[in-house]
Amino acid sequence: MTFFAIDNLTKRFGGLTAVNGVGFELRRDQIVGLIGPNGAGKTTLLRLITKILKPDTGKIVFNGEDITGLRPWDVVNRGISGTFQNTRPFRHLPIIANVMVPLCSPRAKSRGEWVKKIENKALDALEFVGISDMALEPASALSQGDLKRLEVARAIATEPELLLLDEPLGGLNPAESELLAKSIRRLHKGGRFGRLHSEGPAVLMIEHKLKELMSIVDRVIVVDYGEIIADGTPAEVVKNPKVVEAYLGGGHAALAGDAHAAA
Ligand SMILES: Nc1ncnc2c1ncn2[C@@H]1O[C@H](COP(=O)(O)OP(=O)(O)O)[C@@H](O)[C@H]1O
Ligand SMILES: [Mg+2]
Repeated sequence: MTFFAIDNLTKRFGGLTAVNGVGFELRRDQIVGLIGPNGAGKTTLLRLITKILKPDTGKIVFNGEDITGLRPWDVVNRGISGTFQNTRPFRHLPIIANVMVPLCSPRAKSRGEWVKKIENKALDALEFVGISDMALEPASALSQGDLKRLEVARAIATEPELLLLDEPLGGLNPAESELLAKSIRRLHKGGRFGRLHSEGPAVLMIEHKLKELMSIVDRVIVVDYGEIIADGTPAEVVKNPKVVEAYLGGGHAALAGDAHAAA
């Protein structure tokens, strides 16, 4: 049975084709990076998968089911959850309550968790990202980097089968980035975090910090102008002339340099 596949996915904004006929498959045991220059269409692609945006053409299949027409909450209940590039917490709720909200989803409830267990699960998720000591403070107390961590905690709390991450390391310093990147890999590999996750999720992760990304993924998909230009192991893609050209051509020499350093 197909675990996850998208086929010929296209999204236009007026005259701009942000995602152009993109198709690929993911296996349950894969952790995959999604990279490309700014404006390449990475975030749009993730928002099509989480159904925040509706595609103009194309099909999305998850666990053998066509989920193309589903609404965002249906997708979460099927077992896909993600983070947003622009964080949007409930600022006036305590941090832990931000993680408890997704745990009120039918998916979480159907797994037998309810109020008593929810708080512990939320704490485990916060511990995973390293902000459990601030659990009772309002989310407005968090720095930009810590808001990213809260996003990740909210996404993993529902124990998805497929975890979508949009620049989860944004705003974190190098040491924090390395720590969270390693945690994501460990989660994927099935490492337990308290009461969370006995079986790690497949991961599709957008990240500009190529050094951290390349060190934890098995596969990298590179997009440019809404199209896939490369798909392979980290070592393969950074040597790919099209990838080097996309980064250099787009004025992203520093990123290309990062990629080489990581190879
Ligand atoms: N809601 C939107 N309305 C109009 N244009 C958008 C919208 N979202 C993204 N775009 C445009 O689509 C292109 C791809 O954007 P995005 O997916 O955010 O790229 P990336 O995440 O790779 O940097 C960009 O040109 C961006 O300006
Ligand atoms: Mg983006």
